[in-house]
Amino acid sequence: MSRTPKITRITGDGECDARVVRQVRGGPILVEGPVRIVAEDGAEVESDRFVVAVCRCHRSALYPLCDTSHRAL
Ligand code: FES
Repeated sequence: MSRTPKITRITGDGECDARVVRQVRGGPILVEGPVRIVAEDGAEVESDRFVVAVCRCHRSALYPLCDTSHRAL
């Protein structure tokens, strides 16, 4: 079952350009692109895709980007 994400507006004037971050059960986190991901060691990965899948399982050969390796779990 899919649920529409609830977006809470936190600005005082009612305007909010909230970026949507969506968790996929057993899979990546989907982030509206473009994004720049900064790793713990300072390495950076950029993606200008409309939606970027960020790996949560640490099995991706493209980590920190998802390569669908999570499907083998
Ligand atoms: S979440 Fe897809 S490869 Fe890790």
